[in-house]
Amino acid sequence: MLGITGGIAAYKIPSLVRLIKKAGCEVEIIMTEASSNFVTPMTLSTLSGHEVWRDKDFDFRIPHIKLSQWAEVLVIAPCTANTLAKLAHGIADNLLTSAFSAAKCPVIIFPAMNERMYDNPSTRENIRILSERNIHIAEPLTGALACGDSGKGRMPEPEEIMHEIFRSLCPLHDMAGKHVLVTAGPTHEYIDPVRYISNPSTGKMGASMARTAWYRGADVRVIAGPVEIDSYGLDVIHVKSASDMLNAVMNNLEWSDYIIKAAAVGDYRAKEIHERKIKRGDKDTLTVELIQNPDIAAEIGKVKRENQILVGFAAETDDIESNARLKLERKNLDYILANDVLAENSGFASDMNTIRLIPRDESKPEKIISGLKNEIAYDIWSEIIAG
Ligand SMILES: Cc1cc2nc3c(=O)[nH]c(=O)nc-3n(C[C@H](O)[C@H](O)[C@H](O)COP(=O)(O)O)c2cc1C
Repeated sequence: MLGITGGIAAYKIPSLVRLIKKAGCEVEIIMTEASSNFVTPMTLSTLSGHEVWRDKDFDFRIPHIKLSQWAEVLVIAPCTANTLAKLAHGIADNLLTSAFSAAKCPVIIFPAMNERMYDNPSTRENIRILSERNIHIAEPLTGALACGDSGKGRMPEPEEIMHEIFRSLCPLHDMAGKHVLVTAGPTHEYIDPVRYISNPSTGKMGASMARTAWYRGADVRVIAGPVEIDSYGLDVIHVKSASDMLNAVMNNLEWSDYIIKAAAVGDYRAKEIHERKIKRGDKDTLTVELIQNPDIAAEIGKVKRENQILVGFAAETDDIESNARLKLERKNLDYILANDVLAENSGFASDMNTIRLIPRDESKPEKIISGLKNEIAYDIWSEIIAG
């Protein structure tokens, strides 16, 4: 059930409705009268495939009760200062606020307004009251506001709202209170100011592990190489080289319950980083001497606590299983996820992956998990959590 109120951010809601439908969900929409000044009922009815509910429909059919019984989650986006105040004080003077009063499903509210309205003591107090009642208030973001100002009050983008919906609808929240540290993406090892050695990792597998842990309730930090990571709800720290990544991981190790090493870290770096761009010379060849980078997973393996779970990935091209087992032992990992990067639909930059999950404890069975990276992340977590 999607409630829309009279804020300028309502212009983003047609895109949200498309994403909800694309995800395979049904959506019923309740609009406040003010919201129809910002987005048309016709647009939303067309996209949702249902006539939208408005105050003219607040009649003998008691839609507020029926809709609140039907909904698995109630999302109010954008939520005005006005509607926030009504929700906090039990005022049920329209179809949306009445449906909210009757709702027993999880509720996610997206306040969106000018920063001055957001800072208003009444608004602050209303947010506090609702949060105390276990209503999830998804904090507005800081940035450019539709009124031309800049500040805190911006509604998250439709894709980000979807993350909150998925988190709410996720069948398991068994990672609540857990701290998860994920490394993701490639590293860049510079040889001069404009050139580096790297690999084609896109960070997708790490991002999927991070996002799924967040859906399941965990607090998640991601140490990412130079790739774009969808950071909504996650704490993302960007680094460039393997040495930077090692430092960032070590700084966050104490905090972590689970450490997922999904980054494709360069094994070598240039012995010398030229201060100026290397010029094309007279010779046909150029030699760059490389030295070994620290092995981040092995460094963690040396110092990790008994109750910290360390999971490594092994991107292999041959003798996959024996190489993976060797790594598992040498680095003191609890699990290794081995994949054949040369196989079709697997490995780097693919949406798909097939991995062999090998536990350190040999009494536990190995598992082959195959599918879309964001779907297999769910199964991988289930295995790891089950211990
Ligand atoms: C152009 C315009 C933009 C507005 N934008 C917002 C907004 O972003 N957030 C907000 O809380 N109120 C905003 N308002 C004020 C609300 O529309 C007003 O408080 C209205 O009564 C809200 O009704 P509702 O909560 O029933 O939808 C805006 C008003 C106008 C005229």
